[in-house]
This record gives sequence, structure tokens and C-alpha cells, in this order.
Amino acid sequence: MTIAYWHEEYCTGNPLVDQQHQNLFKIVNSLHDAMMQGKGKQRLKETLDELIKYTVEHFVTEEKLMLQYNYPYYRDHKRKHDELTAQVSNLAAEFDEGNLLLNAEVLHFLNEWLIHHIKGEDLAMINFIRKKQNLSIPDYSQKDYHQNALAKIEAAQALIEQLKKSLKSKS
Ligand SMILES: [Fe+2]
Repeated sequence: MTIAYWHEEYCTGNPLVDQQHQNLFKIVNSLHDAMMQGKGKQRLKETLDELIKYTVEHFVTEEKLMLQYNYPYYRDHKRKHDELTAQVSNLAAEFDEGNLLLNAEVLHFLNEWLIHHIKGEDLAMINFIRKKQNLSIPDYSQKDYHQNALAKIEAAQALIEQLKKSLKSKS
């Protein structure tokens, strides 16, 4: 049974990032399957560990991209990654110690986090990179808060450039 549905509007336009996001959805779904089928603790723990491992790998990919393109919101974005990594590692530890049951609520949290993160921070980041590469921005990511996030980033960039210039002219 599917709990995490992939949707076209989650596409960032970066093939590697999109592939990794889709794999994350798949792992969330297999965690859900294992849970629904009443698979043993060992199997659930393995899937949870796989999710953590893959999430960290994916975050490293995004963080490298952000650094490569001087993304101005790198620190904020990375902080979100670190927070989720810590949260999920905590979940896994609690589960291991028998203090936590993997239930629909936990899965719902993971799913919601993924969707919000992709539609918010990730799209804004990839749109920024696509602009830098002179690539067009897909229609579906032109809307509402992706665009707002991009506008904020551009305003911040312009401010940084201005500051740099004024510093140069003073020195
Ligand atoms: Fe991200």
C-alpha cells in the first residue's frame, strides 16, 4: 500500500535530486508496507536504518550542490537537514529500545516532512541553481511560495552584492 505519493509538482528539474526524492518516497512506502504487514521488529529496524542512510546520502548531495552554487540559504537549509537527521535517528534509537511503536503517525510525520521540504526549500534551491545555469524554471514550480522563496533569495543576493560593492569602494 502506498502512503507517500509522488507528484509531478515535486519535480525540481534536477535529475539526481529528483531520483533521490523518488527513492525516499519508495523507502517510506516500504516502511509503511512492513508496518502494515506486521513484519517483525528486525525488518522494520532494517528499513528504518535504510531510510536514515539514504536520507543522509541525499542531504549530502543537496548540500554539495548548494555549496557549489553559493546558495545564500545554505545554512538554513542544512539546519533543516540536520534537524530531520537527528529526529529520525532518535526515532530509530527509541524504536530499538522498545520505547516506540512504528505507527501511522510516525509515517505521516515522515511523509509530510518530505513533501513540505521538497515543495519549499528544495524547489527554491534548485530554482536558484537553474537560474544560475540559465535554465528555465518549470511552470509548476513558478507558483506561490516557491516563487516567494526565490524572490527572498534574490533580494538577499542583491543585498550581498551591494554590500560587497560598498566594501570594495571603501577599501
Ligand atoms: Fe533539502
